[in-house]
Amino acid sequence: MNKQRIIFFCKECGNESLKWLGKCPACGAWNSFIEQKLNDGEVKLENRDTKKPIKLQEITEGEITRIDTKSVELNRVLGGGIVPGSVILIAGEPGIGKSTLMLQFALRVKSIKTLYVSGEESEYQLKLRAERLKGKGESCLILCDTIVENIITAISEIKPDIVVIDSIQTIQTDNYESYPGSVSQIKQCAFLLMQTAKQMNIPIFIIGHVNKEGDIAGPKIIEHMVDVVLFFEGNTNNTYRLLRTMKNRFGPTFEIGLFDMRQDGLKEVTNPTNVLINEETFNLSGTCLACVIEGIRPLIVEVQALVNQVNHFNPQRVSNGYDNKRLAILIAVIEKILKIKFYNKEIFINIAGGFKINDTSLDFAVAMAMLSSTYDLTIPRELCFIGEIGLNGEIRPSPKIEQRLNEIQKIGIKHVVVSSFKIKELNMANFKNLNIIPVSNISEIKLKELISEIKC
Ligand code: TYD
Ligand code: MG
Repeated sequence: MNKQRIIFFCKECGNESLKWLGKCPACGAWNSFIEQKLNDGEVKLENRDTKKPIKLQEITEGEITRIDTKSVELNRVLGGGIVPGSVILIAGEPGIGKSTLMLQFALRVKSIKTLYVSGEESEYQLKLRAERLKGKGESCLILCDTIVENIITAISEIKPDIVVIDSIQTIQTDNYESYPGSVSQIKQCAFLLMQTAKQMNIPIFIIGHVNKEGDIAGPKIIEHMVDVVLFFEGNTNNTYRLLRTMKNRFGPTFEIGLFDMRQDGLKEVTNPTNVLINEETFNLSGTCLACVIEGIRPLIVEVQALVNQVNHFNPQRVSNGYDNKRLAILIAVIEKILKIKFYNKEIFINIAGGFKINDTSLDFAVAMAMLSSTYDLTIPRELCFIGEIGLNGEIRPSPKIEQRLNEIQKIGIKHVVVSSFKIKELNMANFKNLNIIPVSNISEIKLKELISEIKC
């Protein structure tokens, strides 16, 4: 006999509680607990077909043949292709392009039978979208259904090579009374889909919408259930989109894939170096180039800063793409070490391309862009800065410096300022076309002189 019990879930983080709580002890959210009815079956231990534990030595090596997605960028973030039976969560804000990415993939892989399940759009809407994407989709099947049991039945009948679920928030199971998108529905549906993927050895992509706080709406729970978590991000005012690996049980994490959203779908950007640099700001002050590493790829990014005098003592400090707290620290360091006063200046920082950069070696370029704007000095495009700035103004070394210098040299930047730490260990023969300027502290930088030396 199935018993019904009542349990409370935090809709922000999925934390469970037997009673209602005003504040979630796990994530600190207020008024976030919702009531859910659960049907619990009795646990029977007799006559179970259980697996016997075995020794590691007895496990034979099984070779994984990954499925090629025919997309260099998608393969990269997946660690070299799709592992059979894996469950991949594609998370991102509404409208960022998750459906486009997955439908485009389903339409373009001709030799792979895909089942695209949509709970958001009708068959006709999907056809219109497919026409826009110019994909014939010879081996793509479309199913518009929201009941997870029906979807699993279809999967077991059709036996596709790959399944896409768009989106987890729209599907539901018959077992629960709660509405689709609620924590218990998402949890149960993801669990059933995961079981299906593992039992039938079919990879399943699950699309999940992210709420404003950046958590996957409600189901943080499914983040740890799935094998791979990919985040699709970008600025909706801009056409570039980043697909970032947050978790991967079968490959490296923090890998990125870059796409450009065009009229006819997402185009891969295989050479990202030039796209993030704004050609029109060549002769303007307040911009500075940096080389950051996101995933394993070095990227040349352009930092833009605007330092503007105001007549009050509560100026704004706004940063887009660079951590706000790091900006506050950087301002304090520059004020103390370089004796520049920012108390009556508003400061705005922006990373061209609308990306969020986590690499701390961006500090140096942000500081230089600020100085460039303050003194109205144009930093030439042949000059680039790499390094994390410490609290005493020291320039800290950046990991994978050879890789960064190679990238800088490749795109034709001639001068680069880096941390002097262990610089002698670099094989200078590899950087013949590069003038490497080592510094140990921000106080050693005389920006005006440096710029005039370079221009000579
Ligand atoms: P969509 O994939 O529907 O986003 P999500 O599934 O993440 O909610 O993408 C929506 C946006 O993408 C929409 O604003 C229109 C734009 N778009 C293009 O620019 N080109 C295209 O070819 C397609 C299909 C969509
Ligand atoms: Mg969508």
